[in-house]
Amino acid sequence: MKQGMPEQEFRKLVRSIGWLGVYLLGAVSALFLGLFIFMNHKPTPSITAPTIPTQIAALSIAERIAQSGDAQLQDGYAFFVHTDETLGPQQENPERRVTGNGLKCSSCHLNEGTQPFGLPLNGVSQRFPQYRGREDKIGTLAERVNGCFARSMNGKALDTAQYEMKAIISYIDWLDLNQAGTEAQKVKGLKPIELPNRAVDLAHGKEVYDRACALCHQGNGLGLKNQGAISYTYPPLWGPDAYNNGAGMSRVITAAQFIKNNMPFGINYENPILTDEEAYDVAGYINQQPRPQKSNLEKDFPNLVKKPVSTPYPPYLDPFPQSQHQMGPYPEIIAYYAKQYKEEKKN
Ligand code: HEC
Ligand code: HEC
Repeated sequence: MKQGMPEQEFRKLVRSIGWLGVYLLGAVSALFLGLFIFMNHKPTPSITAPTIPTQIAALSIAERIAQSGDAQLQDGYAFFVHTDETLGPQQENPERRVTGNGLKCSSCHLNEGTQPFGLPLNGVSQRFPQYRGREDKIGTLAERVNGCFARSMNGKALDTAQYEMKAIISYIDWLDLNQAGTEAQKVKGLKPIELPNRAVDLAHGKEVYDRACALCHQGNGLGLKNQGAISYTYPPLWGPDAYNNGAGMSRVITAAQFIKNNMPFGINYENPILTDEEAYDVAGYINQQPRPQKSNLEKDFPNLVKKPVSTPYPPYLDPFPQSQHQMGPYPEIIAYYAKQYKEEKKN
C-alpha cells in the first residue's frame, strides 16, 4: 500500500484510472526521480594521478643515483643509507669495519639526509671548512664526518683520503648540487624548542617513552630487527648498538630538538605531536640510559667556552654541577655564559 495516502483515496484513484494507470504513474515518477538524482550527481574524483611529462617526473634519490653512472657516488649513497650493511661491525673485511653500532647515517640524517629540521645535509658542503668548537680549529667536511663515525656511529675515524670517506663526501656534495632550492637546503640542522626552566622530569620522560616511542624502539630501548638480519627496522636508542655518550644526540637539548620535530617517526616540523616539555623529558630519559662510552672525552672542546651547555661529560667552565648539564635546568647556565663570556649558547 502506497504510504501517506488514505486507503479510500487510493481505491478511488484505482477505480478512475485503472491499475495500469497506477503503474504508469509510478513508472513516470521513478523516471523523474532517477533524472533528478542523475543531474545532482557529482562525479567521484579520479584516483589516477595526473600524468607528468617523463622528463620532469620526480625520480627518487635512489633512482637518480643509480642512473648517474658514477660508481663512487653510488657507493657513497650506499654507505650513507646502508651504513650497517656496508661499513658495520659484522663486515668480513676488517678494513670495512668502521662503525661500531647498529645505526645508519640516515637513522638521524633522515630521509637520506634531506629532511628539513631532521639534520639535513643539503648545503653542508658549502659550509665547510668551518670552525668547530669540539676541536677548537677550522675543520674540513671529512673531519666532521669522522666526528659522526667516532661518536654517533660509535666507530673509528677514517683516513680522510680513504675511498669510503671520499665516497660519502661525493654523496653529500651531490645533495648540495641536486637539491638546490629545496626547503631542506635552506634550513640548517635542528629547530630550537622552548626550554622548560626546570630539570628533566624522568618519570614523565618514561611515561612519554612508553606511550609514544616503545612501540617501535621497544620497551627496552634496544630497537628491533628481524631475526638474523644485520639491519634494524627500528634503531636502538640505548644499549650496545646505540650512539655513544660523546655523540651530539647525547646532549639533551639536541635530542629534544630532533625528537620534537621528527618523532614519532612519520611526523615533521610542520605537524609535531609532542609538546616541547614532552620532547625535553623523553630526551632526558633516553640519555640517562646505558650506552657505549667514548674514551678521551675530557679532551673535547679545548676552548671550554664553546662547549654546548647540555654536553653530558666534564670538564666545564662554570660552577654548575654535571647533573645540571645532563638534565637542566638550562636557562641559568645559558644566562651565565652570556654574562661571563658574551657567548650565545644554543644546545
Ligand atoms: C645518532 C645520530 C647520528 C648519526 C647516526 C649520524 N649523525 Fe651526523 N650528526 C648528528 C648530529 C646530532 C649532528 C649535529 C651535531 C652537532 O650539533 O654537534 C650531526 C652533524 C653531522 C654533519 C655536519 C652537519 C652540519 O650541518 O654542519 C655531517 C656532515 C654529518 N653529521 C654526517 C654524518 C654521516 C656521514 C654519518 C654516518 C657515517 C652520520 N652523520 C651519522 C647525528 C648523527
Ligand atoms: C613508528 C615507529 C617509531 C616511533 C613511534 C618512534 N620512532 Fe624514533 N625512529 C624510528 C625510525 C624508523 C628511525 C630511523 C629513521 C630512518 O632510518 O629513516 C628512528 C630514529 C630515531 C632516533 C635517531 C636514531 C637513533 O636510534 O638514535 C631517535 C633519537 C629517536 N628515533 C627517538 C624517538 C623517540 C624519543 C620517540 C618517541 C617520542 C620515537 N623515536 C618514536 C621509528 C620510530
